[in-house]
Amino acid sequence: MSDRILYRAPYLHTPTSPFLHPEALKTEHDGGILVGPGVAGKGTILATGAFTAVQASAPDATVHDLRGPDTRVGVLLPGFVDTHVHYPQVRVLGGLGMGLLEWLDRNTLPEEAKFSSAPHARAVAKEFLSGLAGHGTTTALVFGSHFAVAMDEFFGEARASGLRIVAGQVVSDRMLRPELHTTPERAYQEGKALIGRWHGQPTETGAAEDRLLYAVTPRFSLSASEGILDACAALLQETPGARFTSHLNENLQEIETVRALFPQARDYLDTYERAGLLGRRSVLAHNVHATDRELDSMAAHHCSAAHCPCSNSALGSGFFPLRRHLAAGVHVSLGTDVGGGTGFGMLKEGLQAYFMQQLMPAGSPFSPYPVSPAHLLYLSTLAGAEALDLHDRCGDFSVGKAFDATYLNPPVGTPLETVIRHAEGPERVLAALFTLGGAADVRQVWVGGDSVYTRPRPES
Ligand code: GUN
Ligand code: ZN
Repeated sequence: MSDRILYRAPYLHTPTSPFLHPEALKTEHDGGILVGPGVAGKGTILATGAFTAVQASAPDATVHDLRGPDTRVGVLLPGFVDTHVHYPQVRVLGGLGMGLLEWLDRNTLPEEAKFSSAPHARAVAKEFLSGLAGHGTTTALVFGSHFAVAMDEFFGEARASGLRIVAGQVVSDRMLRPELHTTPERAYQEGKALIGRWHGQPTETGAAEDRLLYAVTPRFSLSASEGILDACAALLQETPGARFTSHLNENLQEIETVRALFPQARDYLDTYERAGLLGRRSVLAHNVHATDRELDSMAAHHCSAAHCPCSNSALGSGFFPLRRHLAAGVHVSLGTDVGGGTGFGMLKEGLQAYFMQQLMPAGSPFSPYPVSPAHLLYLSTLAGAEALDLHDRCGDFSVGKAFDATYLNPPVGTPLETVIRHAEGPERVLAALFTLGGAADVRQVWVGGDSVYTRPRPES
């Protein structure tokens, strides 16, 4: 049998940004994607195009026709990339009716305190990783737990899952609750040990590539002294390939408190900037209430903003100024922010991003951006890969990238299946996927050509 597989299905992807290139959306109605050993490992994309043309170029390849008799309507998309999602918050999803600081205090921090227990940490890690894969997410920048023991459990499960995971221990040394506090010395030592055990580790599926990466993660400046931010900076500087992530400008009360805690800082961003934490591989979540100086500085440092519209809506944080980010040259990706957000679905997240721009009050400082289905696809795939500096590896179906893909195949008779069947073009198909699609429509998910999720057959 050939070691090359030719997947046959309609596919859509954005190999470039629709914010920069109006023709960024690329589609193939009867598509072929040839996958086999190559520069990105054993599951590299070797050729793409019309099925008949790709098959003619690789007649020995084993054909996997995803459009079986019971899968008449289906679409292959690049795997989703979630750039802000909290591992220890799976079980607090759905806590409505609170603003950020009350929600932290009453809803999530009591749950996060339970992660000193390895069995609890392991059980939730499994729930979390199944949640990602089951929603078609193949890569995630994951906010971890405050406990090193929980991070060992998490990375172990992540390794077994086959997903691409960038994650780190969350550190804080004030204003949360005592059991979640550490010290700069301990944060550095535990971080160093976790990096040694997990950063750049291959998966158990035998892939020759590293799917686990470490992200240095102070929770937010409200709960971080200058000392602990310096410890984070030391870890970041000493670890080639490490990423940095934290929260920024999410909530007005939070911003006031940070201002009082850092009187010498120019603004919220400056608390990270002064510590040397900003760079090409820095991803800051939310940034709803950004100043012009902060946006200019983010652009100058080439950092990314992870837009989390479901969370911004659920916690009442505000409207994300997408147009101002783009105008300043700040890269934007999407994050579900489980569990401040409303679940793992990146399709839902995209839809909410669209809603928020639709509803944004016009006029200074607001100016809505007209988001198209192609923008939504880009934001939930390649934009995330770019934010994580993993776009040489994943994010779209370009030849030479790994085959990270999600096959969406709505059950027969559902509204999504009906709309796709009658859709007049790829933009309509995409709009229907973001409006109507969800976990129930995810049939199979691959990372680097390895199948990491298959929808269970319905119980009879
Ligand atoms: N800021 C600090 N911690 C958190 C968190 O867990 N969720 C959100 N949305 N914002 C935060
Ligand atoms: Zn968050």
